[in-house]
Amino acid sequence: MERLGVTETFAGVSLPGHLHTQESLAFAATFHFSPTDVLIATYPKSGTTWMQEILTLMFSRGDILPAKTIPNWERAPWLEQIYSRDALPEPAAHRLITTHLPAHVLAPALRRAKAKVIYVARNPKDVAVSFYHFHRLAKFLPDPSSFDSFLTQFLEGTVQYGSWFDHVKGWLGQRQLLDIFYVTYEELHQDLCGTAQRIGTFLGCPLGPETLRALGEHCSFASMRDNSMTNYTLIPPEIMDHSQGRFMRKGVVGDWRDHFTPQQNALFNRRYQEEMGELELPARWPMA
Ligand code: A3P
Repeated sequence: MERLGVTETFAGVSLPGHLHTQESLAFAATFHFSPTDVLIATYPKSGTTWMQEILTLMFSRGDILPAKTIPNWERAPWLEQIYSRDALPEPAAHRLITTHLPAHVLAPALRRAKAKVIYVARNPKDVAVSFYHFHRLAKFLPDPSSFDSFLTQFLEGTVQYGSWFDHVKGWLGQRQLLDIFYVTYEELHQDLCGTAQRIGTFLGCPLGPETLRALGEHCSFASMRDNSMTNYTLIPPEIMDHSQGRFMRKGVVGDWRDHFTPQQNALFNRRYQEEMGELELPARWPMA
C-alpha cells in the first residue's frame, strides 16, 4: 500500500508518510485559520476521536445523524494529512479541524485568526500503552517489537509524532497566547456531560438538556466502539490490521498498571519528573 514504509520529518518530528507529505505539512504550516474555526490539538492516543465525536454532537445540537453517517476524518479533518486540502470545508460557523502537530508550527496563525483551540491531554503512561497497541494495528507505523523497547523509544521521544513531553509542554506554553481550553481524557472519563458543558461554554455553545443527553449516550465508549464512522473499521486491513486489535481498544483510565513492570514504572516516573518537574498542569492524573 502507498508509502506505508515512508517516514517524513517535519519540525523535528517524524510522521508516517502514508498520511503526510512535505507538501501536506507545508499546507498546514501556512494555513489561514478563520476566527470561527475550532481546532482539536492532541498527541496521538489522548482522546482525539472522543473529542471529535463530542464536538460533532455539540454542534449538531444532539442530532446523531452526522456522527452516524460521516467518518470522523471528514467531520474534523487532520490539517496536516495528505487529503486535508480537499477535505477541509470553507470557513463556516464552527469548522472542526484536528491536528497532532506541535504548537510552535501553528500557534502564530492561530493567534492571528483568534481561532479557538481545545487541547486534550492524557496520562502519558496510558498514552504509551494505547500507542503501543495502535502500532500493532496500524501498518503505517513501525513494528513496535516488544512493549519494553517501545516504551524506551516513547520516553526518548523517538517514536513517530515525537516526544509526548515536548508536545504537551509546547501546547501548555500557549496558555496566555491563544484562546485555548485544556481538558484531560481523565476528566472526560470522570464526568463526560459536565466536561462537555464546560467546553460548550468555552465555545459559546451552551448545551440544553436534550443535547446533553444525546451527547452522553452517543459519546460513550460502547456506542463509539460500535459506530463504524468512528471506530476505524472502514479502513482496509492492508492499512489497519483489524485482526491485531481494535482502535476502540479498552477506553479505560489506568490500563498502564496491567502493562508496566515496577522497573519500567520507576524509569517512567524519573523521566516524567525530569521533563515535567513542577510544571502546572490543567488537571492532575494519578501517576502512582
Ligand atoms: P485505548 O487504546 O486506551 O482504549 P485517539 O483518538 O487520540 O487516537 O485515542 C484513542 C484512545 O481513546 C483509545 O484508548 C480509545 O479506546 C479511547 N477512546 C476513544 N473514544 C473513547 C470513549 N468514548 N471513551 C473512552 N475512551 C475512548
